[in-house]
Amino acid sequence: MLRTPLLAAARSTACRRLVERTPVTRGLVDRFVAGSTQEQALPKVAELTRDRYVTLDHLGEDTTDAAQAQATVGAYTRLLGALAEHGLAERAEVSVKLSAVGQFLPADGEKIALENARDICRAAEAAGTTVTLDMEDHTTVDSTLSILRDLRVDFPWVGAVLQAYLHRTEADCRDLSGAGSRVRICKGAYDEPASVAYKDKAEVDKAYVRCLKILMAGEGYPMVASHDPRMVAIAQKLAATAGRSDEEYEHQMLYGIRDNEQVRLAAEGKRMRVYVPYGDEWYGYFMRRLAERPANMVFFARSLITR
Ligand code: FDA
Repeated sequence: MLRTPLLAAARSTACRRLVERTPVTRGLVDRFVAGSTQEQALPKVAELTRDRYVTLDHLGEDTTDAAQAQATVGAYTRLLGALAEHGLAERAEVSVKLSAVGQFLPADGEKIALENARDICRAAEAAGTTVTLDMEDHTTVDSTLSILRDLRVDFPWVGAVLQAYLHRTEADCRDLSGAGSRVRICKGAYDEPASVAYKDKAEVDKAYVRCLKILMAGEGYPMVASHDPRMVAIAQKLAATAGRSDEEYEHQMLYGIRDNEQVRLAAEGKRMRVYVPYGDEWYGYFMRRLAERPANMVFFARSLITR
């Protein structure tokens, strides 16, 4: 019931001002975000990579300013240099939202995003790690997959996220299940119309399993991004059926969510990667985390009332 208004609020400037100015927000944000700066995030990455893998997200999205897009490229380049310098690049990669590097710019947005993503890929290659393209709302999927195809000509290791709730995604999984392909399959976090996406949770779960089947049976590297215990168990069964070893796929979860389960999977010898966001532009990311779980919203509302 709260999901749609919260996801609408995620894109509202007025709500953004209100939430950002509320002092108690910070405590809850800290649960999901590893700091405002790279310097704050890196010690957490060093800690996590003792038993897990990491993908880092420099927070930001929907940029309509070329200078801001360029600044984001600079932030990723600096981050990738630091990962190499601190010996973290073997277990830590980066995740990039193309809308943060120019995809929505009015003139030549897609071309600018491609060139900016290329710069980030060059820095990742120099650091000895990889890049995965996040997936945003359904209007961006064709553009993101087109940029992925272009990037993979020079950087065949670039991965992408696919969202099981979209009707088109099974076909996209088939297209991206070939050798060398890296697909992070998630359920999907945006408020999409019924014309393009399954709206019912049970339908989304069934679609997620169909996507897992395609990816596990394929020749690529499936990245199972879900906190759902059923999806985790089904992924492991499908991997075993496909004859995949623990090194031939991985589990992924978000920073601050089901940490005990992350530790348990890593201790069992599974590859467990944590998506670690950092930076000041946490608003959209934070609101999507509230929308995913009503209990988060209740906790947030209660802290507003009792402050
Ligand atoms: P589901 O929502 O059914 O949750 C299962 C259980 O997990 C819940 O019962 C709860 O215990 C726990 N849980 C889930 N979300 C929680 C939360 N916010 N707070 C506390 N507990 C929570 N989406 C997208 O559209 N584009 C993208 O690029 C990405 N990228 C991405 C990367 C990674 C590594 C992950 C793990 C997820 C994403 N997502 C995403 C988000 C994804 O689409 C989805 O919204 C969330 O992962 C929640 O879906 P689950 O599969 O966890 O199942």
